[in-house]
Amino acid sequence: MEVIIRPDHQQATLLAARIIEKELRARPTLVLGLATGRTMESVYACLVRRHRETGLDFSRCRTFNLDEYIGIPPQHPGSYGSYMRQHLFSRVNLDPAHTHLPDGMAEDLAAESRQYETLIAQAGGIDLQLLGLGGDGHIGFNEPLSALLSRTREKALTPATRQQNAPMFGGDPARVPARAITMGVGTILDSRRCLLLATGAEKAAILAKAVEGPITAMVTASALQLHPKCQVVVDAEAAAQLQGIEYYHWIFNNEPEWADFR
Ligand code: GLP
Repeated sequence: MEVIIRPDHQQATLLAARIIEKELRARPTLVLGLATGRTMESVYACLVRRHRETGLDFSRCRTFNLDEYIGIPPQHPGSYGSYMRQHLFSRVNLDPAHTHLPDGMAEDLAAESRQYETLIAQAGGIDLQLLGLGGDGHIGFNEPLSALLSRTREKALTPATRQQNAPMFGGDPARVPARAITMGVGTILDSRRCLLLATGAEKAAILAKAVEGPITAMVTASALQLHPKCQVVVDAEAAAQLQGIEYYHWIFNNEPEWADFR
């Protein structure tokens, strides 16, 4: 795992977008794992700008989102399908047939979950998985105690997660669906590269647990410590409680891999 600290939210999200851009230019058929949440909005805004200004081409890219709520249709403004259309899909030249989210309205959710895993496998696996960090340390919707080898499946959301995501549902946590389909921790760990992005002071304590704490199902992001190529991009506020800040700065300033991004 590598931690890269940028001064602020804007710089951190710009770096994440530049990493995605570099991968997409190197491999136009990239299989990209996507995440939702407020943090990602600026990443998608950067990608849209690059598409408009430089012609960054998504036409052969395939995408798989981490998760979707159960019981609300894709047209619902709070659905992750709506989020993705609003922030990315309708603004770049992605082929709609190449974009995938789990179907939270499927009658047989277990079959839908198996099918999602099959689709990812048929695409050749995920090349780059973008990840946010939930307030309880979740990745996707892998709430505390999710098995670290779990696959795509149905999960019940914690009251804290429903509270955290209430702004997309008129501020009322009771209107946030109680369940979601999410890629499992094992599904995420199968990606060839993971990129976790966290910004803001409210993420500082949980980020320190995820990155420098013990690997535990109580903080599913901590399982990323097992991944052979996982990079964590944070801003200074989110990094505030990390112990290795000096070393992480040294990595960004000296390692050849980061030369293009300095
Ligand atoms: C939701 C998503 C997660 C995301 C998290 C962070 O819970 N299911 O995948 O990481 O939000 O959201 P935010 O960026 O708004 O803090």
